[in-house]
Amino acid sequence: MKSLINTLPLGTELNEKEGVQNHPMLAPHGGNLTPATLATGLTRQDFLDFSVNINPLGPPDCVQDICSRSIDFLGEYPDPDYGELKKVVADAVGVSTDWIAMGNGSTELIYLLPHLIAPGKEAVIVSPCFSEYERAFRQADISVRHFTLDPSDNFNLPVDQFLFQLRQYPDLGGIVIGSPNNPTGNLLAEDAFRTLSVYCEKRGIFLIVDETFIDFASPQRSFIKHIATARHLILIRSMTKFYSLPGLRLGFAIMNPESVRKLEAHQPPWSVNGLAKAIGMALVMDKKYCEQTRYFIQREKNFLYENLQKISAIEVFPSDANFILFRLLAENEDKAKHFFEAFLFQGIVLRNCANFVGLDHSFFRLAVRSRKDNRLFLSKAGKYFHSISG
Ligand SMILES: Cc1ncc(COP(=O)(O)O)c(C=O)c1O
Repeated sequence: MKSLINTLPLGTELNEKEGVQNHPMLAPHGGNLTPATLATGLTRQDFLDFSVNINPLGPPDCVQDICSRSIDFLGEYPDPDYGELKKVVADAVGVSTDWIAMGNGSTELIYLLPHLIAPGKEAVIVSPCFSEYERAFRQADISVRHFTLDPSDNFNLPVDQFLFQLRQYPDLGGIVIGSPNNPTGNLLAEDAFRTLSVYCEKRGIFLIVDETFIDFASPQRSFIKHIATARHLILIRSMTKFYSLPGLRLGFAIMNPESVRKLEAHQPPWSVNGLAKAIGMALVMDKKYCEQTRYFIQREKNFLYENLQKISAIEVFPSDANFILFRLLAENEDKAKHFFEAFLFQGIVLRNCANFVGLDHSFFRLAVRSRKDNRLFLSKAGKYFHSISG
């Protein structure tokens, strides 16, 4: 059996049947442990998953209670208009109900967005960005251009340069940008947003801001305060990351009521099931959990960030989310694989960012986890870099 690399420090080899294409480092998203178990022979329980960017505190207590009564919510069809659920979500974010579209995860809504964009128009994605936007647009025959952010400027949006670029695209129908962005972790600056939004309103371009991770940063930094005046603004929100429920599939979008109606016209009925509805309504009421999470993430992120910065072999990027992006210095693809596999065989899964437009194999995204797990990662990273430098 031949390893994908020759120099694994642990004397272990990836299972041959997996081959290079299925290398767990090349998984399209974080949080998929199957390739890692197949490649190593370890079980799911053996892994600490730093590749998935969900709340390490786990779901709020109310979820357990509701699940124990789940049969009550599954015995009838859910309300296809999601009236009650929309009402609590709308109240929580401070808009009226008709500004909310609910979805089977925010991913469903992302795949409905192309229906808002006129045929023949194109989209610009500020990259690196969550890859499903590009897939959704391409599947709908909307051509996609990327505007790539610069790591040497901490992936901040150079708004004047961006607008200059946009002027070259007469058929632009939509722009996508994350705030906080996955995988860079940074928020879009308020002044950059305003400039961009004014430009989009003038040209009738949809400005789609992915705010899936905003609750980890600060709800005050959401651009929802501009929603009433910016007709073309669309905010994408998820309830799977912050509430640690990726299997539940629940998300929502905030946009003007006309766009909500257009989008919903293409949505299958009952996308949000009865259990997800019941849990969703309880989640948004749980203010204590929100506070606890923000406190916890802030503290642990600072701990991780400060200690990662002490490692001279990597460059660490500041983050407003629940994950941290870093880059191996003096990198080539084999060295990145060596690094990834060294951790994999010790039961630690990292998110390699080679498949994000604008990044390469040298970039890794690390989820903020508990102090114990974060310490373990840091200690193994310290040993790893010491062993390769010596
Ligand atoms: C930036 C971003 N947006 C949206 C999603 C989709 O999340 P969900 O469909 O679970 O709500 C993800 C998932 O990883 C993401 O990272």
